[in-house]
Amino acid sequence: MSEQAKTKQTAGGKMWSGRFREPLDAVFEQWQRSFPFDVRLLPQEVAASKAHARMITAACILTEAELERVIEGLDQVGDISPEFAPIEPGMVNPKLLGAELGTTPRSIRRWLSKQPEFSDIHVKHTRIALAKDDPLLLRMKNHFAIQANLNLDGDGATEEFPATSEADVAASMAHAEDIHHFVELQLTKVIGPLALKLHTGRSRNEQIATDMRLFVRESIDTTAKGLRRWALALVELAEHAKDAAMPSYTHLQRAEPVLVAHWLLAYVAMIERDVSRLVDARRRMNLCPLGSGAVAGATLALDRTIAAQELGFDGPTQNSMDATSDRDFLLEFTQVLATVGVHISRFAEEMTLYSTAEFGFLDLPEAFSTGSSAMPQKKNPDFTELIRGKSARLGGAAATLTVLMKGLPLAYNKDLQEGQEPVFDAADTARGILGILPAFTRSLKFNLERMKTAAATGYLNAMAAATYLSNKGVPFRKAHEIVGNAVRLGLESGRELDAVSLAELQGLSSAFGEDFHAAVALEATLDCHDVIGGTARARVRAALAEARERLSSAAVTQL
Ligand code: ARG
Repeated sequence: MSEQAKTKQTAGGKMWSGRFREPLDAVFEQWQRSFPFDVRLLPQEVAASKAHARMITAACILTEAELERVIEGLDQVGDISPEFAPIEPGMVNPKLLGAELGTTPRSIRRWLSKQPEFSDIHVKHTRIALAKDDPLLLRMKNHFAIQANLNLDGDGATEEFPATSEADVAASMAHAEDIHHFVELQLTKVIGPLALKLHTGRSRNEQIATDMRLFVRESIDTTAKGLRRWALALVELAEHAKDAAMPSYTHLQRAEPVLVAHWLLAYVAMIERDVSRLVDARRRMNLCPLGSGAVAGATLALDRTIAAQELGFDGPTQNSMDATSDRDFLLEFTQVLATVGVHISRFAEEMTLYSTAEFGFLDLPEAFSTGSSAMPQKKNPDFTELIRGKSARLGGAAATLTVLMKGLPLAYNKDLQEGQEPVFDAADTARGILGILPAFTRSLKFNLERMKTAAATGYLNAMAAATYLSNKGVPFRKAHEIVGNAVRLGLESGRELDAVSLAELQGLSSAFGEDFHAAVALEATLDCHDVIGGTARARVRAALAEARERLSSAAVTQL
C-alpha cells in the first residue's frame, strides 16, 4: 500500500486518535456517538471541568492566569444556546458541510505540526499532497472546522480566537463524539491550545461518572420537590373532605367504612417513603469521582478534596476502580423512580376507576380530560391513564439499568454509555408527571354524598357489629356467626343492619341491647378503629395535622 493510500485511511481529530492508522467506519462513527443525548450534560461537564481545572492548578499544571482563562472559557462554552439541538446519530449538520476551511493542504500540515495531539498525523503526512476533493481533506474539514477562522496560510495558528459563532458550535456539534469532546473542541475555539492542557490528569471515565452524579443529584432534588407538592395537594384535599366517609375495599369488594381523608393519607405515606428513599440515595451518591483517572487513580498528585468541595460533594470517592465503573447511583435513582411510578400508577388507577359511572365517586376535572371523537357523551380520563402508562417507563429504566450492569467486569466498559438515556428518560418522565399531578389532585371534586351512601350501605358495619357483641362478652368467632345471621336476615328482607329491630336481633342472640343501633351507625363504625394509624375521626384529624407539619418542616423544604 502506498504511503498516500495509507494516509487516506488514517484517523485524526478524536480524543484518542494517536495510535490509529485507520479511520472509523463512517456509519459506526455516527452510531457510537453519545453526544446527541449527552449534550444535556453540558452544565455538569462545565462545572466538573472547572473543578478539575482548580485541582490541576493546585498541582501546578496551570498557572493562576491560565486557570482564569480556562474558567472564563468554560463559562463561555457553558453559555452555548440550547437552540443548537442535538444532531441525530447518522446525520451531519449541513452547517458543517457548508463551512469552508479556506486553506491549503500545506498550511493544514503546518497547523497540524503545531498541535501536539496530532503529531502522529503530522509525521505520517508531511509528504502528502491533498487534492481539493480528497476524502482526508473532508475529514479534516470535519475535524478542524472549528479552526476555520484561523489564518492557516499565514504563520500558523494564532492565539487570538474570536467569539464562538453559530457555525462553529454547529461544527463541533456535528463532530463531537460526546459532551467531553464537545467541551474540549469549543474550549479550544474560545481559548486556543491552552484548552488542551485541561485534560491533564483526567479521563473521560471519571468525567462521565461525575457528570452523571451531578445530574442525578439535581434530579433527586427536583423529584423530591415535586413529590412534596403532590403530598401537600393530597393533604389539602383531605382537609377539605373533613369527616366525609367512603367505603374501603379489599379484593375490590367493599370492606369497611373509612374517612376519605384516611384514604388520601395512605398516598401521603407512600410519598413520604419515596422522598426518604431519594434523600437516602442522595446521601450515598454524593461523593466525587474526579481524580480517579481512567481506572487506577490520577497520575498526578491531585488534592481530590478541592474538586469534591467545589462541586458540593461530601468528599472524594474511595476507590478509583469502583468510582469509574460504579453506576449504583443510577440504579438506585431509577429504582426509587420505579417505586414512585408504582404509587402514581395506583393513584391514577383509583381515580380512573372512581370516576366511572359505576362508582361515581368523583367528577374528572375537565381541564385534564378529553372527549371522544365518536361518542359525544364521553369524558375520558386521559391524564390518569397517561400517567398510569408513563409509569411503565420508570419501571423500564430500572430494569434496563439492572440488566446493563449485571455482567460487567470492572472497571469502565463502553456499555455504561447505554445507562444514560434510560436515566434521562426516567428523570424527564417523573418531572413531567409531577409537574401536573399536584394541580390535578387539587382540582379533584369528590361526590361525597355518593361515597357516604356507599359507605353506609351494604353491611360495611358488620365488623363493627361483631365487635359490639364481642365487647358484650361473646367470643369473636361466635359473634361473627351471629352477625352473619343478622346480615342474612337483612338481605332477605332488603334492610340494613340498623333497620333490623332489636327484637329480631335478640332472637339471634340475647347479647344485643338498646345500644346496638348506635354502635353500628356510620360514625361509630369509623370511631371504633381508635388505634394509631386507624380511621377513627380523632386519629385521622391528628394524623392529618402531623402530615402537614412534617411536610412543612425544614428537613423536607430543604430539598
Ligand atoms: N461517552 C462515554 C460514556 O458515556 C464517555 C466515557 C468514554 N470513555 C471511554 N473510555 N471511551 O461512557
